[in-house]
Amino acid sequence: MEKKRLISGITSTGKMTLGNYLGAMQQFVELQDEFEMMVFVANLHAIVLPIEAKVLKENIKSMVALYFACGLDPNKATVFLQSDVLEVTNLAWILSCNSTIGELERMTQFKDKSTKVRADNGTNFIPTGLLTYPTLMAADILLYDAQAVPVGKDQKQHIELTRNLAERLNNKFGEMFTIPEPIIRENGAKIMDLQDPTKKMSKSSTNPKSYIGLLDDLKQVESKIKAAVTDSENIVKFDVENKPGVSNLMTIYSCITKKTNSQIEEEFKGKNYGDFKAAIAKVVIKLLQKIQDKYQELFNSQQVEDWLEQGALKARTIAARKLQKVEWKVGLKYKK
Ligand code: TYM
Repeated sequence: MEKKRLISGITSTGKMTLGNYLGAMQQFVELQDEFEMMVFVANLHAIVLPIEAKVLKENIKSMVALYFACGLDPNKATVFLQSDVLEVTNLAWILSCNSTIGELERMTQFKDKSTKVRADNGTNFIPTGLLTYPTLMAADILLYDAQAVPVGKDQKQHIELTRNLAERLNNKFGEMFTIPEPIIRENGAKIMDLQDPTKKMSKSSTNPKSYIGLLDDLKQVESKIKAAVTDSENIVKFDVENKPGVSNLMTIYSCITKKTNSQIEEEFKGKNYGDFKAAIAKVVIKLLQKIQDKYQELFNSQQVEDWLEQGALKARTIAARKLQKVEWKVGLKYKK
C-alpha cells in the first residue's frame, strides 16, 4: 500500500524556537518513518513583512541545517526550499482568484499581524502578502496532494481554509485536489511564552527571555527556564486556567521525556519550583546539546546543499505534474 503523503513547513523569519520544535519539528521526525514526509523552509512566507536580505539568507541557511540536525533524514523525508518550486506561486495565484477578501480578513493571524503593523507603521502599510499569506500556504499543501499536514494549533484555521478552497475548486472545475487533514498533537500544540504564559511562544518576540531558540547558548537556556513566570503556590500541578506558567513548563517537560502530567505531578510532589525548573533545564539542555552538536557538523557542509537539491528535484517533479492538471481543468491551458 502506498504511504500517505504529509507536508509542512516553518517560516524563516527568525531562529527556530522550542515551540516550533515541540509543535512541529518533533512530529515531522517521528512521522517520517511511517509516512512520506515533505518538509520545506517557507522562505516566501518570510518576506510578507519587511526583512533584510542578509538576515533572510542567514535564517534560511541556518534553518536548513537545523532541519537535518533535528533528525530529518534525507533518505526518508523530502526537504526543500519553498521558492525552489516555482509552480507554487502560480497555484497560489489561482487560489487567490478563488478566495474572497472577506474570508482572508477573517484569519486570526491576519487580524493579529495587521493590528500590530497598523500600530507600528500606520494603516497604509499593510502588505498585500499579509492578506494573501493563507492562499500561498494552501498552494503549498494542495500542489503536492498532501493528505495530512502536521502543524501547531495556531495553523489550524489556515488548514481549514485550505480545505474549503480545495472543495470549492473541486466543485467548480472538477476533482483536482486532495482534501488535507490537519495533524495537531494533543500535547505541545501550543507552547507558551515563558514570560507571559497566556501568549504563544514566538520567534518574532522582541524579548529574548520569552522564548528558547534551538541555537541559544545553553547557559542562557538555563537562566531563561529559571526566570520563567510561574505562580506563588510552589505546587507542580497541571491547571492551564489557574497555573498557566507551571502547566506550560510541564508540557515542555512532558513532550521531551514522554512522561504524562500525572507522572510529572507525582515526581515533583513535595518539591519546589526550583527543583522542577532544574529538572526541565536539564532535559531541554540535553536535547539542545545534541541538536547543536549535529548542527555544527552540518552547517557548512556540501552534503546539506546536495540534500536540498535532491529534495527540490523531487518536489518539482510532483509540482509540475499537478500544476499541469490544474491549469488544464481551470482552462489556462488549451492543449493537453
Ligand atoms: P511558523 O513558522 O509560524 O511555525 C512553524 C510550525 O511551528 C508551529 N508553532 C508552534 N507550535 C507549538 N507552540 C508554539 N509556540 C508554536 N509556534 C509555532 C506552527 O503551528 C507551525 O506548525 N504558515 C506556517 C508555515 C507554512 C506552512 C505551510 C505550514 C507555510 N506553508 C504549509 C504547513 C503547511 C508558519 O508560519 O509557521
